[in-house]
Amino acid sequence: MTAVLKVDPLKITFDGIHARIAPSKTLDNLRIAVDALKKDQVVAFPTETVYGLGASCQSTPGVQGIYAAKNRPADNPLIIHVSSREQLETTLLQSVPSPKIPPIYVPLIEKFWPGPLTILLPLPENTTISPVCTLGQSTFGVRVPANPIARALIEMSNLPLAAPSANASTKPSCTTAQHVFNDMRDRIPFIIDGGPADIGVESTVVDGLVSPPQILRPGGVTLEQIREIGGSAWKNVVIAKPNAKENEKVRTPGMKYRHYSPQAYVTVFQPGAEHKLVDFVRNRKATKVAYLRSKTFPKSAFAGLENVQVYDMPLGTTNKDISHNLFNYFREADSLGVDLIIVEGIDVTEEGLAIMNRIHKAAGEIVEAI
Ligand code: TXA
Ligand code: MG
Repeated sequence: MTAVLKVDPLKITFDGIHARIAPSKTLDNLRIAVDALKKDQVVAFPTETVYGLGASCQSTPGVQGIYAAKNRPADNPLIIHVSSREQLETTLLQSVPSPKIPPIYVPLIEKFWPGPLTILLPLPENTTISPVCTLGQSTFGVRVPANPIARALIEMSNLPLAAPSANASTKPSCTTAQHVFNDMRDRIPFIIDGGPADIGVESTVVDGLVSPPQILRPGGVTLEQIREIGGSAWKNVVIAKPNAKENEKVRTPGMKYRHYSPQAYVTVFQPGAEHKLVDFVRNRKATKVAYLRSKTFPKSAFAGLENVQVYDMPLGTTNKDISHNLFNYFREADSLGVDLIIVEGIDVTEEGLAIMNRIHKAAGEIVEAI
């Protein structure tokens, strides 16, 4: 049985780093979730990027429960969510001499925490983080989520939470509690429903421990923002190569796996190639097509296709809208039984870099310009 706990983010305020919640259903439900986490159970919760599947990172049974629920390969480490930099320093870095956080990260975390930025830190020698969370890496990934429900949950439980995205492995990440329910029903005891995720794609993962520093996964914080805010060390930041060999340890998220994939075949449509659309759909023998667009629907480009149902799925026109809606439409297409998803490609500037990264992953890197 999976229970859905409704929590209203507007009922949560912060006094510095401390959550303040008046007696309410929101408080009662958060307490239920906190109790479950303290008992090594897995709880799904909203973050500003996507929903996460959380358990105490210090609990091996808890973290094992996450892998089991997701059916996630056990060589892909989990990121840890803390409620504040203070909590990170006192619970996970207490044995580390000052400065506990390498100075290269300071301008970034001062600007982007709480928010969609995950940093890699050296794993302290006598760490309390469960080894099943870090899986033999010498580093761990950590972030402070901006969503008030996530921060309150972590603060109230005083547990740093390991939390991957709450989708079943290989499926698109979940941006609503309903998506989580569809994937996790009867696999976890509780899902906190705090409304749709704001950003819609995952956090940016950066490694400042190597030179030049790297973006391991583009996400909610953009490359341009990192270059602008990070100071001189981040001016030369590089984007890590997206593929790993069979036996390589995972350095870049999801390098080895087809990720974020709907069941339907995904392809990218380069604007300007409309005249090729009809042949492409026919060749794939598609009968239900979802057209995910940021421009005007090219109705005439589909003319002449018989017995093909085309669903018009407007992602929105701004990068923010597109990232907010992308995974939702991937899932919607699957629930409609679509066999071909065509996505309009967008520029890889600003949020477009993370968006196109997710689209390429969904396409299993097999992207066809049609
Ligand atoms: O926005 C997000 O980051 C969401 C929400 C729930 O916070 N979480 C998320 O987690 O996307 P997950 O596990 O799906 O992706 C985290 C990625 C993994 O693919 C993993 O490869 C990478 O971060 N990662 C974690 N620890 C790492 C480490 N020590 N070194 C390199 N990559 C690491
Ligand atoms: Mg994920």
